[in-house]
Amino acid sequence: MLAIIGGSGMAMFDEMVDRRRQVVRTPYGDPSCPLSFGRIDGQEIVFLARHGYGHTIAPHEINYRANLWALDEAGVTAAVSVATVGGIRPDLAAGTLLLPDQIVDYTYRRHCTFFEGPDKPVTHIDFTEPYDGALRDRLVAAAQSIGETLLVGGTYGCTQGPRLETAGEIRRLAGDGCDVVGMTAMPEAALARELGIAYATLAVVSNPAAGIGDSARQISLADIQVVLESAIGRVRGVLRALR
Ligand code: HPA
Repeated sequence: MLAIIGGSGMAMFDEMVDRRRQVVRTPYGDPSCPLSFGRIDGQEIVFLARHGYGHTIAPHEINYRANLWALDEAGVTAAVSVATVGGIRPDLAAGTLLLPDQIVDYTYRRHCTFFEGPDKPVTHIDFTEPYDGALRDRLVAAAQSIGETLLVGGTYGCTQGPRLETAGEIRRLAGDGCDVVGMTAMPEAALARELGIAYATLAVVSNPAAGIGDSARQISLADIQVVLESAIGRVRGVLRALR
């Protein structure tokens, strides 16, 4: 079964029919919200709002382990994560949709593995390619089928948040090879890999990152809202077409 993990600007997925909600408890605590099951074109999917249905859970407060555990328990084998990001590469204008293929993790003090505690053996997963290429291809095909453009490839730098970055931090991320910056890719992607869930991120560039282009002096949060309102509609179109 396919899961959609909705990010900022996407706390619901009303496109599903026959919707039903299910409260799930996990050994790691409660997920961000009850899981929402439903169908699109006959295909059963499950939706989870990463920040909660009321968008009240900040990136560093999200119980990523509970979220991924709940999806796994529900029988999820593939998860598309929708995430808003700042654009670092100059050609990534606000409104661009992008499928990153790499991650650099700058987060700290987040529970980043299921393999810890006295009864768990130390386990190292391979994470050379953090995203699933086949799921990325399905997203590209979905976009093509509706005439939507998705840029393929790019490195997602994941910061701790919830504050946005300084211009100096963005220069450092650019030097590290990051193309976009967001706050939620990690540990979500790694936990999905630990559970064997194929995982891909559909990133929405909501603003130039700090110090870049229109964000040279400051980032306009009002502008971000305007961009998201139209871009999320396009994301929904791609997800509706996903097979
Ligand atoms: N930085 C980090 N996360 C973000 C940004 C940003 O500029 N925009 C949207 N999510």
